[in-house]
Amino acid sequence: MAENRVTFGSKLGVILATVGCAVGLGSVWRFPYMLGTNGGAAFLLVYILFTIFLGLPVMITEFFVGRHSRSNTVGSFKKLAPGTRWSWIGYNGILAAFLILSYYSVVSGWTLEYVWQTLNGSLYGSGAADYTEGFEAFSSDPFRPIFWTAVFIGLTHFVIVSGVDKGIERASKVMMPLLFLILVVMCVRSVTLPDAEAGLVYLFKPDLSKLTSSVVLSALGQAFFTLSLGMGCLITYASYFSKDTNMQATAWQVTLINTFVAVLAGVMIFPAVFSFGIEPSAGAELVFITLPNVFEQLPLSFLWSLIFYILLAMAALTSTISLHEVATAYVLEEFHLSRRKAAWIVSIGVFLLGIVSSLSFGVLKEWTIGGLTFFEAVDYLTAKIMLPLGGMLTCIFVGTRIDKKVLKAELTNQGTVKFYLFSTYVFFMKYVAPAAIGIVFLNELGVLDFLFKGTR
Ligand code: PFF
Repeated sequence: MAENRVTFGSKLGVILATVGCAVGLGSVWRFPYMLGTNGGAAFLLVYILFTIFLGLPVMITEFFVGRHSRSNTVGSFKKLAPGTRWSWIGYNGILAAFLILSYYSVVSGWTLEYVWQTLNGSLYGSGAADYTEGFEAFSSDPFRPIFWTAVFIGLTHFVIVSGVDKGIERASKVMMPLLFLILVVMCVRSVTLPDAEAGLVYLFKPDLSKLTSSVVLSALGQAFFTLSLGMGCLITYASYFSKDTNMQATAWQVTLINTFVAVLAGVMIFPAVFSFGIEPSAGAELVFITLPNVFEQLPLSFLWSLIFYILLAMAALTSTISLHEVATAYVLEEFHLSRRKAAWIVSIGVFLLGIVSSLSFGVLKEWTIGGLTFFEAVDYLTAKIMLPLGGMLTCIFVGTRIDKKVLKAELTNQGTVKFYLFSTYVFFMKYVAPAAIGIVFLNELGVLDFLFKGTR
C-alpha cells in the first residue's frame, strides 16, 4: 500500500504545495490579529525567534517522520513504533486538523463574502467610512456566513476528491506568486498613507515590558499555526515527497517565505490601522475592517480589492486542502474507505462544527467557555495547546526512539545531499524545542511564577 502512494510531480510542486499549506489566513489574517491583541512588536520578536529556533527543527523532524514512514499521521507513528502509544501524537494532530478546519473555513467564507461584496458594489461606494459596522452586521448574521462556509468546504471537498497530485499542485502553482505581488502593492500604498509611521513603530519597535506569559504563548501558537506544525499536516505532505526531495532546503524555504509573507501582512495592515484610527486590538475582524480603507485609496480600487480577496481565498484554499487531507488520509487508510466516502465524513463533520463557530459571532456570542467564545476557544485549544504539544512530542519521539544514523540517512537522501549543522539540528530537536515548549506551558500556567516566588 505504501508503495502506491502518489508523490508530488516536480521540485517546484513540492515547495509550492508545502508553501501553499503554510501560507494562508494564518499569515495574512491571524498574524496581524494576534500581533494587535498582544501588544505589537514584542510579539513579532518572540514569534520570529520561535519560528527559527523551534519551528524549523520541528518542521524538519515532521518531514522525516512523514517521508520515512510514507504514511498518514497516525499510521506513521504506528509504523515507526508499533504497539506503542506514540500514535496518540497522530490522533492529537487529526483532531487538531479537524477543529482548525472548522473555524478556518468560517474565516475563509468571509473572504468569499468580500469577493461578492466587491463584485456587487456594496463594499465600496455606499459612503460608509467605517467598515466595522458592515463587517459586524455580516458576521453576526445567522445565515450568510454559514452559507459561505458551506461554499468553502464544498470547494475544498472538490479538490480533495479529485486527487492529491492534480488538485493540490495545480492550485498552488498559479496563485502563490500572484498573492505575493499584490501584498507588495498593498504595502506600498499602506506605508505612504498619512501617519503611517506610527504603524511601523508599533510593528517593529519592541516594547519588552509588553512581554507577558500570554504574549509568549500566543507567539508560540502563532509560529506553530502558521507553519502548519504539530498536527501531522507536514507529516502527511512529506509522505508524498519523492526520494530525492531535499527536505532541509524545503523546510528553510517554506519557513522563510511564510515569515516574509507574515511581515508583509503586518506592513500592509498596521500603518493603515494607525492612519485610519482603527483599534489594533480589534480582534478577528482587524484585517477585514482595515483593508477596504486601503483599497479605497488606490486607483481602480474595485479591481485591486477583487483580485486580492480572490487570491486570499485561494491561499486559504491551499491551507484548507491540507487540513482536510490530514483528516481524509487518516479516515481513508485506517478504515479502508474510498477517498470519496472519507472526504464526505470529514466535510460534513467540519461543517457542523463550523456552524457553531460562525454563530459565535452572533447569536452565540454570549455563550463563552472560560471567557472565550466558541470560535476563540477552538482557536486557543488548537493553536496554543494541541499544536505545540504535538510538536513537542514528535521531537521527543524522534529524539529518543530513532537511531541518529537512520535520521541522518533520511534527511540527507542516503548521503546524497549535505546536511550542514546536523548535530546542531539534533540538539535543538531533542532538547531545546521540547524544553522551551514545556517552559512556555508551565509559565502560562503560572507554575514558574509559583516556584520562583517560593524560592525567594
Ligand atoms: N498554516 C496555515 C495558515 O497559516 O493559514 C494554517 C494551517 C494549515 C494550520 C494546515 C495547520 C495546518 F495543518
